Amino acid sequence: MKTLIQGGTVITAADTIQADVLIEGEKISLIGQNLPKDGAKVIDATGKLVMPGGIDPHTHLELPFFTTVSSDDFYTGHRAAAFGGTTCHIDFANQRKGETLHEALEKWRRLAEGKAVLDYATHMSITDLRPDVLAEIPSLLDEGITSLKVFLSYKNMYMLTDGEILQVMHKAAELGMLVLVHAENGDVVDMLTRQFVAEGKLSPEYHALSHPAWSETEATLRAIALASVANVPLYVVHMTCAGAVDQLTYGRQRGLPVMGETCPQYLFFTEDDLRRPDGAKFICSPPVRTRADNVYLWDALADGRIQVVGTDHCPFLFDGTKPLTYEGEVYRSPGKESGGGDFSKTPNGMHGIEDRMLLLWTYGVGKGRFSANRFVELTATNPAKIFGLYPRKGTIAPGSDADIVIWNPEARKTVSWRTHHMRVDHNVYEGMELVGLPEKVFVRGELVVDGESWYGRRGSGRFLHRQSHAPVV
Ligand code: URP
Ligand code: ZN
Ligand code: ZN
Repeated sequence: MKTLIQGGTVITAADTIQADVLIEGEKISLIGQNLPKDGAKVIDATGKLVMPGGIDPHTHLELPFFTTVSSDDFYTGHRAAAFGGTTCHIDFANQRKGETLHEALEKWRRLAEGKAVLDYATHMSITDLRPDVLAEIPSLLDEGITSLKVFLSYKNMYMLTDGEILQVMHKAAELGMLVLVHAENGDVVDMLTRQFVAEGKLSPEYHALSHPAWSETEATLRAIALASVANVPLYVVHMTCAGAVDQLTYGRQRGLPVMGETCPQYLFFTEDDLRRPDGAKFICSPPVRTRADNVYLWDALADGRIQVVGTDHCPFLFDGTKPLTYEGEVYRSPGKESGGGDFSKTPNGMHGIEDRMLLLWTYGVGKGRFSANRFVELTATNPAKIFGLYPRKGTIAPGSDADIVIWNPEARKTVSWRTHHMRVDHNVYEGMELVGLPEKVFVRGELVVDGESWYGRRGSGRFLHRQSHAPVV
């Protein structure tokens, strides 16, 4: 089966060229001008942009959290991602206390079975570092897992001590693995949370006040310092504030192999949103900050101080007492209301898997903050490189998987939860006007989205084995 995408403008992180793209089977086979039709199905991309599908390196599909579970699974999340121009993602297998890493991995694998439409991979979160767990880490490479996540926060749940983190980092360095870190000071967060709860200060804004920016700033520097001691590459997930970006910059200026990610919610929202009547929608960790931080992050994306935009996609229904209908099926799950109005019991997380590329295009490229090439770099090429998927994913080149988005820069729509494809009963970007949208989306050569039509097949997505010793960008 051959498909010829004709007459479009091909955008990669490095180039903008007027060229046709030939897909043969699952791969891109040729890029060039006036390629012959030669029996291929022709798609006219005149006036459109042809870009690599997005790679979201930070998602939590069906993540158990407090008394519930995040509301998108590997089918609904993949469908939503594809409608937003994302064709591949990396999720997290989270070790629970007492579990081995392989037990956690098996549980996580079962979530994807029969549901995945996109290609997907996983990071391994280590939350209970016992000698047997440390000994298990090398075997993760045989499973194609090359990145380990550690938490400096979520005390008594996910958090490791600095000494344990150093042990994980030493092991990762030995094996050519990358370490990801959730950088907040868990003791500070725990103490402030207890204090506010004891004082009866339970509303969503106290979530932000119990997770101060200085605790993230301090933890970011601490993680960088530990990574430097262990001589291991580090990726700081979901960076929210100027102070954290400054610590990352400090490390990078000293030649340390440290990289950072932010997410759309930190570019658009502030603590004021937590004071809205529906403020619980905005509870995530670390929290949304200030307008000045939003601006600082946009600037850091533009000038290269931050390398990736992920999503931390971890949606929960706002009102889980009401059923939601998704593709004709009724879905029920406790949501943000399950916290009972207490921020410390409200599940942490926001949606983003469908929104990321759309928002970054309109508000990044459209507003002149960065180029279309930088958009591709932030949303696809850098994630592919950092996480050992490049050049199979994250670019348009002969031999790469045909994960392609045909983007219509003129198309418009207004964001609404009534028309989005995520399985969640609200959209925090509701009412925002988007200019520039994906029109056709291919996963390994197969058309899965065409306008508003969905052709994705449950179970067609593949688990991706990733390479160790991935480059630092
Ligand atoms: O609030 C968040 N971010 N929920 C998901 C878990 C995490 O910390 O990434
Ligand atoms: Zn986190
Ligand atoms: Zn996360």
